[in-house]
Amino acid sequence: MSEKIRLQKLISMRGFCSRRKAEELISSSKVKVNGELIIKKGYLVEEDAKIEIEGFENNVETDKVTFLFNKPLGVVSSVKDDRGRKTVIDFFKNENYRLYPVGRLDYNTSGVLLVSNDGELTNLVTHPSTHLNKCYLATVEGKVKEKDLQALRNGVLLEDGMTQKAIVEVFKEKPYETLIFITIHEGRNRQVRRMFEHFSYHIKNLNRESIAFLNVKGLKRGEYRKLTQNEVDKIKLICRENKKSNVIPTYKKK
Ligand code: URA
Repeated sequence: MSEKIRLQKLISMRGFCSRRKAEELISSSKVKVNGELIIKKGYLVEEDAKIEIEGFENNVETDKVTFLFNKPLGVVSSVKDDRGRKTVIDFFKNENYRLYPVGRLDYNTSGVLLVSNDGELTNLVTHPSTHLNKCYLATVEGKVKEKDLQALRNGVLLEDGMTQKAIVEVFKEKPYETLIFITIHEGRNRQVRRMFEHFSYHIKNLNRESIAFLNVKGLKRGEYRKLTQNEVDKIKLICRENKKSNVIPTYKKK
């Protein structure tokens, strides 16, 4: 007899989706175990149990793959969209995996996004206790005061609590806009936009430049590449050790 584990964990281990998403599927009556509908989240199952999700069998553990995607603007970070908008998964039609985005970027944010079927990687990267540096280039309308830059570095009180320390550096100042690199290691919803909105600044454009050591060098918008096993191992290690990866944006002032 094999060891028993929680149903949501088994679903994510088999690469179907993240543990959190699996919990949602279970509580919305979409999961059967050995033919029986299960709606209890912590339900314990044998590792070799037969699982059906929305009528499809999910017995085979697929290869784990993670892609680094350069997300264009105007694309939803989900598998499907009720409003028929283009999703990040639409770019992966030639890949024979059940992929989903790891975390999210706003519809109007471009840049680095991981897309995977690796439940373990997804759980590690998206877990609230994980400190993975994410660097953004924000184009902010108008000039940004030095005292506000300092406040953004130290932490801002948003409606869901204080933000943690950030690296904030002005890249370019123009008469009508300021380009700012901001590196945060939390993953709250619309965090960068909300941090600037707190001081009444409007972000005209937001691009994620990197997640830890991963950037989109060599990839045009809408293109992707598979992460190497080394890169996957390194990301998992950083998450596990809960280390800041200390990506400090490298750029030259013009
Ligand atoms: N912060 C935002 O405001 N938007 C994103 O898409 C990512 C981080």
